[in-house]
Amino acid sequence: MKAPFGRRLCEVAENNASGGYRIFSLLDRDGPAPEAGQFYMLAAEHGWGENGGRPFLPRAISVAEAVPAKEGVRLDFLVEGVGPGTDRLCQLEAGEEVCVVGPLGNSFSVPKQVNPAAAGAILVGGGIGIAPMAIWRRYLVDRGIPIRVLLGFRNEEHSGGLQELFCAGANLCPDVRLASEDGHTGHQGYVTDLLAAMLAGDDAGSAVVYSCGPPAMLEAVRALCAEHGVPCELAVESPMACGFGACIGCAVPKAGGGYLRLCVDGPVVRGEGVAEVAHA
Ligand SMILES: Cc1cc2nc3c(=O)[nH]c(=O)nc-3n(C[C@H](O)[C@H](O)[C@H](O)COP(=O)(O)OP(=O)(O)OC[C@H]3O[C@@H](n4cnc5c(N)ncnc54)[C@H](O)[C@@H]3O)c2cc1C
Ligand code: FES
Repeated sequence: MKAPFGRRLCEVAENNASGGYRIFSLLDRDGPAPEAGQFYMLAAEHGWGENGGRPFLPRAISVAEAVPAKEGVRLDFLVEGVGPGTDRLCQLEAGEEVCVVGPLGNSFSVPKQVNPAAAGAILVGGGIGIAPMAIWRRYLVDRGIPIRVLLGFRNEEHSGGLQELFCAGANLCPDVRLASEDGHTGHQGYVTDLLAAMLAGDDAGSAVVYSCGPPAMLEAVRALCAEHGVPCELAVESPMACGFGACIGCAVPKAGGGYLRLCVDGPVVRGEGVAEVAHA
């Protein structure tokens, strides 16, 4: 779905804490509904780059959920405050306005588009990277496509969004398995330990893997999928200044030479499309 030309203002509907993260919602009256994997460039209307200070440029944030509203669409975002831009987004209050460009970038492909023999999907999310997995999971569930979801967090402080984005307030969904490095929930270790065990299973070869998370995790997912001959789509991050292909700030090396502009050629890339995610 292409973004309307130019920036528009969207009102903050709510902003709530979820573990160490925040989930805030914008009411987008004019934009098209986004697809899973797409992102928006966001900047608070006030308190953003004032007096020449940081943050100056808008920040790229993945859409975690999109729900039709009375007027337009409600967009949910999951953020972790790691610097001036995300700190300001974490502080947004209901009624404030946010300058929005989007939806931008490409989106995930359904399993049968990636592999005609695919029977289902395995979703692997790490940290704040669970956001695009949430909207993708809901899309696949709505279409009756079998999924298994693996989510990992560093520790309790760096986690959040599970109940709200994956289980709509209910107990944790049966298709979700968890890992944490500090052992506070689920398997103690990396989420890729769970993926490795799953890919070693009988039926994993008929799945397509989708993933978003920190570069080291994405690289581990890419390498595991390559080892097992399982196709994967990865939502990759890089620093973005414009978000629509003009500044080349987001360029990353392609497998086999050349570069991808992640804001327009991604953020979703096939595993075989990038040589090594950790060095992207
Ligand atoms: C497509 C896409 C989707 C994204 N989705 C989300 C999302 O859903 N939620 C979310 O919270 N974030 C998301 N991000 C990440 C977010 O846009 C970035 O982390 C953004 O830079 C944060 O801005 P900031 O001003 O808060 O922090 P920044 O000042 O940009 O710093 C961010 C982090 O990078 C480090 N850093 C900054 N500059 C340097 C440098 N020169 N060298 C090394 N490290 C540096 C900082 O220490 C900090 O840890 C996404 C990014 C992309 C590209
Ligand atoms: S962010 Fe400017 S070209 Fe991609």
